[in-house]
Amino acid sequence: MAAMDRIMELCQRKQHIDMAGGEDKIEKQHSQGKLTARERIEYFFDENSFVEIDKFVKHRCTNFGMENQDIPNEGVITGYGTVDGRLVFIFAQDFTVVGGSLGEMHAKKICKVMDMAVKNGAPIVGLNDSGGARIQEGVDALSGYGNIFYRNTKASGVVPQIAAIMGPCAGGAVYSPALMDFIFMVDRKSQMFITGPQVIKSVTGEEVTAEGLGGAATHNCKSGVAHFTAKDDMECLDKIKKLLSYLPSNNLERTPVYEQKDDVNRICNELNSIIPENSNKPYDMKEIIKSIADNGEFFEVQEEYAKNIITGFARFGGMSVGIIANQPKVLAGCLDINASDKAGRFIRTCDAFNIPILSLVDVPGFLPGTAQEFGGIIRHGAKMLYAYSEATVPKITVILRKAYGGAYLAMCSKDLGADVVYAWPSAEIAVMGPDGAAGIIFKKEISSAENPEEKRKEMIEKYRQEFANPYTAAERGFVDDVIIPSETRKYIIISLMMLSSKRESNLPKKHGNLPV
Ligand code: HXC
Repeated sequence: MAAMDRIMELCQRKQHIDMAGGEDKIEKQHSQGKLTARERIEYFFDENSFVEIDKFVKHRCTNFGMENQDIPNEGVITGYGTVDGRLVFIFAQDFTVVGGSLGEMHAKKICKVMDMAVKNGAPIVGLNDSGGARIQEGVDALSGYGNIFYRNTKASGVVPQIAAIMGPCAGGAVYSPALMDFIFMVDRKSQMFITGPQVIKSVTGEEVTAEGLGGAATHNCKSGVAHFTAKDDMECLDKIKKLLSYLPSNNLERTPVYEQKDDVNRICNELNSIIPENSNKPYDMKEIIKSIADNGEFFEVQEEYAKNIITGFARFGGMSVGIIANQPKVLAGCLDINASDKAGRFIRTCDAFNIPILSLVDVPGFLPGTAQEFGGIIRHGAKMLYAYSEATVPKITVILRKAYGGAYLAMCSKDLGADVVYAWPSAEIAVMGPDGAAGIIFKKEISSAENPEEKRKEMIEKYRQEFANPYTAAERGFVDDVIIPSETRKYIIISLMMLSSKRESNLPKKHGNLPV
C-alpha cells in the first residue's frame, strides 16, 4: 500500500469513529437539548488544544452477538487540553454510542486518562452521560467501575476531580462522581440515582419520576449530592472552567493568582452600618461577602443546600480563598446537620488544595431539637471541628456578630487553629446569648425582684455589657484585633500576605479518623 493510501485509510478510520453513533443518534441527542461528547469537549477546551488518546480502542466482548458490534470510541472520548492555558485531562461519555454504557475497555480508557492526570499533576474532568454498566459485558463492566472508584479514591486530594452529570447516571455509576471533589448537574437533562423509579416502585411501592428522584433540583436542594446546577450544557462547562480558575492543578501547587483591578485597600463604608441595631434581626451575609471580595465576585458552592451556611470561592488581592460564612437570614445562621456536613466537606477540599480559608461568623449556636439530636448532630458537628482543626492552610476568622458556645468554637476559633481572628465592634462572643444566659445566672435576682421583668431586662443588659462584646475575648488574645467593619477587606488581604509563607503540618500518621 502506498504511503498516501495508508494516510487515506487512517483518515477514513478516524472519520468513521468521529461519526460516533451516527446522524440519527446525534440528532436525537440535539433534539433533547444536549451536545454530543465531542461538541462538549470542543466547547470546553481552549481552541485547538484538545489532544485525543485511545481513539481506536475496541471492546472485546463476544456475549449476546456483540463480537461484530461496532462501538466507535468505545462510547467514551478521552484526552487532554488546556483551559485558560492550564493542562486539564478529560473523559466524556458519548450517549450516541450504545447509550454511553460502560464496558471493560470503556473503563480502561477512563482509568488510563485518570492515571495520566495524576502522574502529570493536572485536574481530571469527567463528563457523564451513560446508561451505566454495559449489560452485555456483565462482571467485566462491574470490574471497570471498581477500577474507576479505586482510582478516584487514590487521586482524592492529589488532583482536583470534577464530575459533570449531563445525562442519565444510574446504579453504581453515581459513585465515581460521588468520590470526586465537585459534581455539576444540568437542569432537567441529568439524573443520578442508585435505583431507578421502576425498581423503587416494585420494592417500596413509592411512585416518583426520574427527575423528581434524581434530577438537578433534587440533588442540589434536597440531598446535597451535587454542588452546582446549570441551565444547559454550555453553562455547565463554563462553570467548570470558572471553578478550575480557583483551584491549583494539584496538591503541591498553589492556586493561580489573577491580577486584579480592585484596590487592596478599598474601604467598604456600607459595612459600618450593615449589622442591625437589634441583634436578633437578620441581614444578608452575601452582601458582606460581595462587598469585601475582589470585584464583588463570589462563586458559591452548594448554593441551594443548607442555606444557613454559605460556602464558596472568592479572590482577595487576586488570591483564591474559600469562604465559610453563617447566613443569619436562614435559621438565624444556626449550625445543623446539613450545614455541618456541607462546611466540613468544603473545609477539607480547601485544605487539600492549599486554598486559604476565611470564616465569617454570626452564629447563635447549634440548632436545638430532637430531630437534630436523633439525626446525630453530635457526629455531624464533629466533622466541622475536625476539618477546621486538621486544616493547615491559612485560616482567617472574622466575627461579625454572634459567636456563642460550641458554635463559636466550631466556626474556626483561635483554639481550633485560626491564624488570625478579627472581630467587629458588634461581636458578641460568649457561652450563650444574653437572654438565655441572664435567665440562668441571675435566676434568683430576677425571681425575687419586685418587678421581675424589669430586673430581667436589667440583667440582660448587664450580661451584654460584660460578656456579649468582643473585648473580653480580645483581652485574652482569642481575638487578635477589633477592627472597623469598613476596613475588613484590607485586613483580610494583609493577613493573607502575612500567611503566604505559613508552614504547618500535622503529626505523621496513616490517616486521621474523621467522624464520617
Ligand atoms: C447496554 C445500553 C445500556 C446499558 C442504554 N443502552 N443503557 N446498552 N447497557 N446499560 C443502549 C440502549 O440499548 C440503546 O441502544 C441505547 O443505549 C440508547 O438507549 P435508549 O434506552 O434508547 O435511550 P433512552 O430512551 O434515552 O433511555 C436512556 C436510559 C435507558 C434511561 C439510560 O437506556 C436505561 O434505562 N438504560 C439502562 C440503565 C441501567 O439500568 N443501567 C444499569 C445500571 S446498574 P440502541 O442500540 O437501541 O441504540 C449499573 C451497575 C454499576 O450501572 C455498578 C457499579 C458498582
